[in-house]
Amino acid sequence: MEHDEGISNPSNNRPFEDVLNEYASRRQLLRGGLTLAAGSFLAGPLSATAAVPAPGRKIGSRLIDFQPVTLAEGNGPVPAISPDYDYQVLIPWGTSLTNNVTDYSGDPLVRPTAEEQAQQVGIGHDGMWFFPFRRSSNRGLLAINHEYGTNGTVLGKADPETLADVMTSQHAHGISVLEIRKTGRGWELVKDSMYNRRVHGRTPVEFSGPVAGSELIGPEAGAMGTLNNCANGYTPWGTYLTCEENFNGYFGTSDSSWTPSDEQARYGLSAGGFGYSWHVFDERFDLASDSHPNEENRFGWIVEVDPFNPEAMPVKRTAMGRFKHEGVALVEGRGGRVVGYMGDDERFDYIYKFVSAGNWRFMRAQGVSPLDNGTLYAAKFNDDGTGEWLELSLRNPAIAARFSSEAEMLTYTRIAADLAGATPMDRPEWTSVGADGTVYCTLTNNSRREEADAANPQAPNPDGHIIRWRDSNRHIGRSFTWEIFLLSSDTHGTERSVASPDGIWVDPDNRVFIQTDGAQKDGLNDQLLIANGNQSGDDIEISRLFTGVTDCEVTGIAITPNRRTLFINLQHPGNGDPSVTNFPAAQGSGAIPRDCTVVITRKDGGVVGS
Ligand code: FEO
Ligand code: CA
Ligand code: CA
Repeated sequence: MEHDEGISNPSNNRPFEDVLNEYASRRQLLRGGLTLAAGSFLAGPLSATAAVPAPGRKIGSRLIDFQPVTLAEGNGPVPAISPDYDYQVLIPWGTSLTNNVTDYSGDPLVRPTAEEQAQQVGIGHDGMWFFPFRRSSNRGLLAINHEYGTNGTVLGKADPETLADVMTSQHAHGISVLEIRKTGRGWELVKDSMYNRRVHGRTPVEFSGPVAGSELIGPEAGAMGTLNNCANGYTPWGTYLTCEENFNGYFGTSDSSWTPSDEQARYGLSAGGFGYSWHVFDERFDLASDSHPNEENRFGWIVEVDPFNPEAMPVKRTAMGRFKHEGVALVEGRGGRVVGYMGDDERFDYIYKFVSAGNWRFMRAQGVSPLDNGTLYAAKFNDDGTGEWLELSLRNPAIAARFSSEAEMLTYTRIAADLAGATPMDRPEWTSVGADGTVYCTLTNNSRREEADAANPQAPNPDGHIIRWRDSNRHIGRSFTWEIFLLSSDTHGTERSVASPDGIWVDPDNRVFIQTDGAQKDGLNDQLLIANGNQSGDDIEISRLFTGVTDCEVTGIAITPNRRTLFINLQHPGNGDPSVTNFPAAQGSGAIPRDCTVVITRKDGGVVGS
């Protein structure tokens, strides 16, 4: 089958990935960014219910043209993939970054030590991005999040027994930066690359933006770590953004007199946490400790890491707010501003937008990070298909009455958005922006919704939905129009079956890559599907490309510039139980199933998703 190499967008604008790749190639930067078609969904091309040939594809060729994985196939202890595709496993948890440390094998009788884990790929593979060397689709850096791993899997026991155990767990979190390359045998990690790096729960970090210098996160000297690194983003200047989600779960206390403040309660901090018990051996995570009074305020941020500079300290970008950050999708808006769309993944929490104060190139030329100076908004979805971005600032009297400084407001962003009147959503997860400027957000589920509204139309909503919108004024305006793209429940009992959408990425041809995390219907494991973003209505085309193994989440998307190689992740396969699956080791081997990256290619070498 022929697959066209080029992508000719009729608007003369280039996909954001191209901008990034152009930067990474150290060539001249592109002028101009994405433009956004004016008008509502009803006036735009998305109102068409028939498939619209994507730009650059031959008339008559189909946007999604592969044999799908059937319901009957998508439920085993090993993955299933379309017969038109191949997959390969890369960098399972415990793979050493160097030749000096051995790879962890998955042997259930042995676990990595703290020292080993600090030099091995972490666990809980999640959001990631591929940063090519000079636009190469064969070699580059994979920056990858390690969201979480239970004590049972990481330590082989329910509770840590020493500080070294806690350190092993902390080292298993964070991110990896890995040089990878394609060889005749497939993709492989380049061990001992100068770029290979772990950033984990004990890595020194710094703060930037309005909260830096605030007593709310002080003392900053010696601040360490990034945790619960969920989804991600990437900037047009070639850096990686890792997003701290359920940081609250690592904190706890044995002090029965401790009770949460209103602010701590709004962020879900509790004496028991999620059962990690780090606080027993590491006072930093003890909520009652006087020596670490602000530790929890140092988490819940978006963290910028330069993958090309292994010496650079990770920077927490406080202007983008503090909440349970799922991910961030950056685009270039009017005037060269960078605009970031972000979800706060908790039931009834919000969708946010950050707009830089100025043109990102000018700001950077002046030595200012575009992510340090800008305006934060929370989304209000009206029932008539319009929406409003509510500015979170002390200019809002309700916010000014509650907070005495911008730093305080940003540290408790959720409370500012409560006061502004944002719309409580059904767990906002990933965001992605298509080449035509349409923004997508997965709303994974909300079993506790009792009252429906137009943007969250099911009560309860056990299987989730996907919403999409178009902003005004090329992403920087305060109004938008929106529609529901997909209601999961519409697909159940059919070969299109999907539930609990989580990861999402829209390719430059409007293929919508959907990944799932949670109980699927119709006997399926979690999965990767491709939907047609040129369509709308109840019966959009959805085709199943891949299913993971029993009890694993399918998450994380990275793609090479030529879109011939896709990287995804399997998180917590078998929930760590070798009696469920041994993947990626051979079935019957007894090995602990391990989080890993899966490399997906078309057998005919075509664009992945086509
Ligand atoms: Fe880390 Fe909301 O998923
Ligand atoms: Ca997620
Ligand atoms: Ca999820």
